Amino acid sequence: MSGRDGHRTVGQVKEVTSLANPLVKDIKALALKKFRDQQNAFLAEGLKLVIDALDLGWTIRTLVFAKSGKGNPAVEKVAARTVASGGLVLEVSEKVLSAITRRDNPQAVVGVFAQRWTALKDIRPKGDDVWVALDRVRDPGNLGTIIRTADAVGARGVVLVGETTDPFSIETVRATMGSVFAVPLAKTDAASFLQWRKGFPGLVVGTHLKGAVDYRTIDYSGRPVLLLMGNEQQGLPDELAAACDRLLRIPQAGRADSLNLAVATAVALYEIRRKALKLDGSPA
Ligand SMILES: C[S@@+](CC[C@H](N)C(=O)[O-])C[C@H]1O[C@@H](n2cnc3c(N)ncnc32)[C@H](O)[C@@H]1O
Repeated sequence: MSGRDGHRTVGQVKEVTSLANPLVKDIKALALKKFRDQQNAFLAEGLKLVIDALDLGWTIRTLVFAKSGKGNPAVEKVAARTVASGGLVLEVSEKVLSAITRRDNPQAVVGVFAQRWTALKDIRPKGDDVWVALDRVRDPGNLGTIIRTADAVGARGVVLVGETTDPFSIETVRATMGSVFAVPLAKTDAASFLQWRKGFPGLVVGTHLKGAVDYRTIDYSGRPVLLLMGNEQQGLPDELAAACDRLLRIPQAGRADSLNLAVATAVALYEIRRKALKLDGSPA
């Protein structure tokens, strides 16, 4: 069947070659936060990522693949899973895929997924759960790297506080290398965060250049920990710093005035999770 708007349906796959196709226009619009929010959707690139997302139970709305992927058993399997879950499958030209991903050499497979957020009220920390809270994180690369690191250390999730960069932007999703599908995300404003923090059943530690405590001197084990990180330019504002049980300092030598936010988060998380990850020399 041929459509007037530049697509042809073969079986359950639509072949699309025109950039003017409305389905393509809607997917391209996901480059902008406004449309991601309107559609409650986002893009993830790469076959492995899409398979991981489906395995983790994420809802795929549309699977887009390049003509070159046709006949590839793994792509066909993902296409069948997409159709089975009620999603749409588009086979597109390289030109269309480049326009969607804004890349010259795009991945052969792209998925459009429904966004997923965890409500603060549904977070119930227990045992040695670790949560990370980020104050007004600005840089998509930092946020993606932190989500990936939180995944790697087995943290329970990331809470975004205040105006932050969007975890579902294509840059952030790329930087997470798939961990965006594995790490629960919550967002809130500072006032609601402070309210929620009052009920946090464990230790709340902030990192601060003027922190009174060396981050290696605390025993984090046996209780939930909330690690609060400051904004890239301004650090933690006083009201958030005051809400912490301890303010941690990561010692530095040399001339750098601070560590990069994602690096500081990783350093702190590995210390907090040291016992859980058996990094203390005991057998894993
Ligand atoms: C780039 S730093 C912010 C620098 C900012 N000019 C300031 O005055 O805080 C971003 C965040 O990383 C963490 N951080 C970076 N280096 C740190 C260090 N040496 N000790 C403790 N926290 C650090 C803090 O949470 C900080 O708010």
